[in-house]
Amino acid sequence: MCGIVGYVGSKPGMDVVLEGLRRLEYRGYDSAGVAVLSDAGELQVERRAGKLANLEKVVVGTPLPGTLAIGHTRWATHGAPTDRNAHPHVDCAGRVAVVHNGTIENFEELVAGLEQRGHERRSETDTEVVAHLLEERYDGDLAEAVRSVCRDLEGSFVLVVAHADRPDVVVGARRNLPLVIGLGEGENFLGSDVTAFIGHTREARIVDQDQVVELRRDGVTVTTLDGTVVDGASFHVDWDTDAAEKGGHEFFMLKEIQEQPAAIRETLGGRLQEDGLLHLDELSMSDEDIRGIEQVVIIACGSSYHSGLVGKYAIERWCRLPVQVEMASEFRYRDPVVGRNTLVIAVSQSGETADTLEAVRHARSQKAWVLAVTNTVGSTISRESDAAFYTRGGPEVAVASTKAVITQIVAMYVVGLYLAQVRGTRDADEVRAHLADLREIPDLVQEVLDRMDGVRELARDLVNEPRVLFLGRHVGYPMALEGALKLKELAYISAEGFPAGEIKHGPIALIEKGTPVVVLAARHALSAKLVNNVQEVRARGARTIVIATDGDDSVTPYADEIIRIPDTKSLLTPLLTIVPMQVLSAEVARAKGLDVDQPRNLAKSVTVE
Ligand code: F6R
Repeated sequence: MCGIVGYVGSKPGMDVVLEGLRRLEYRGYDSAGVAVLSDAGELQVERRAGKLANLEKVVVGTPLPGTLAIGHTRWATHGAPTDRNAHPHVDCAGRVAVVHNGTIENFEELVAGLEQRGHERRSETDTEVVAHLLEERYDGDLAEAVRSVCRDLEGSFVLVVAHADRPDVVVGARRNLPLVIGLGEGENFLGSDVTAFIGHTREARIVDQDQVVELRRDGVTVTTLDGTVVDGASFHVDWDTDAAEKGGHEFFMLKEIQEQPAAIRETLGGRLQEDGLLHLDELSMSDEDIRGIEQVVIIACGSSYHSGLVGKYAIERWCRLPVQVEMASEFRYRDPVVGRNTLVIAVSQSGETADTLEAVRHARSQKAWVLAVTNTVGSTISRESDAAFYTRGGPEVAVASTKAVITQIVAMYVVGLYLAQVRGTRDADEVRAHLADLREIPDLVQEVLDRMDGVRELARDLVNEPRVLFLGRHVGYPMALEGALKLKELAYISAEGFPAGEIKHGPIALIEKGTPVVVLAARHALSAKLVNNVQEVRARGARTIVIATDGDDSVTPYADEIIRIPDTKSLLTPLLTIVPMQVLSAEVARAKGLDVDQPRNLAKSVTVE
């Protein structure tokens, strides 16, 4: 949450930072601000509540001069989303500017001390204390002043700082939250992720826990909080600006939905051996350790949790292992029973979600083996886990997750089949056959995408609905949850997903004449029972919208609307049923005139607990 950019070079700093903020806006859009430092040492700050466009209206006509700049796009925690609370924050003299992502937990104590020492507070944020502390501690060495302040901070933070006396230096620091350095020629960058500077350089280096980086035009120096210089490897970002642009689509989400066939191919690519079996070095587990696993616990939040639920069906079926799926925010507060023979799979697109990260830390403290399934190379969760499986979905900019979720589901199948292969719970021919089915999925997803005109039309018809229900059985149940989550977060329609067999125990009371009920009736073992459930809701007046497999007419008589998907194995149907629900929710939001990429109150990378 919150996007941060820093730049020092020879280009107009404001332009570079605004471009970075545009790409990071998915991380929060309650306010935005920049601070630009001219070569003559004049520090100018502009900030505005609301989306970045509000700030751009102010600065674009009257650019702030200077080739050193820092910027911020905010998801509010401390203090309302107002101009006054927007970052950057400055000290009393207006000579230090600070942008911050995270929460400083001991800020009240720090504020009390600062007020006693005569500092004047101008915002309700926790961030402002950092500017005042730097004012006190700066004596010519900005990196040392930042190290000194960081030693006194509790909580989580990424800080990026500029000082009017130092037109040659931007300083950044991090604890628990992500900060990446972009390495250029005669210019260097800082960003919450690589998209912040991908238009300028594809060479990057991760800033590690409790490290401080001094960014100059001719290089960077990274130190620990006690000032020890640390080396670190750089890496090459293997996608370019096109991947982070809309490519002709009105919204990123619509583009990312279309990218799913390619994303799935990337997830599968290189993981299959010539003999048709799987090779997953990335698990970093010996065959003996894999055979010793006694239970699997999957931890995740939101849509990633739904991917984990699909994983439960697959892993239990193929590996005959007990699998629990836990919401990460609850996991560690429940004293969960995990230990040496537990495989914990942490699923997170961003790899930065605070709830999931804390759950990972707890699982590791209990000696469980933690595998991160994430889209983000070098993310905190991947680095703090024992091993990482990268889903390789490419950058996902829209706040609502689509291609990241579908690739997570593929990852669940791949990991499940690998465990089954090594444990011998499925023979080699069966594993090969499942993998062959998976390899067909990208083409089938494309077929679903090519059939979406009817769904777009249906979406326009749902804009005024106050409530929509989603029903599924077996692997359709997690997808019913996912369909409901997408519709509520994008279209602000009250939506709930239920196991279809459960509705008669209460939720059926919600159904009135005309209530839309989306039923995930893709072919699977329970479809006869699902047909009964469709009849039950229809008998009570529901308008049934049924997602059904080509050629399956068992449910047709009870469907007011039918969305057809191609046939695949029942366990793999989530990879197809998810697509019409993504399109439906995006199109309802679009028809309501809402911002599909940036739904209200949300941010993509949720780095607060
Ligand atoms: C919904 C959505 C969220 C995320 C959740 C976890 O469309 O995107 O529910 O799935 O915040 O995020 P990650 O996967 O980054 O841990």
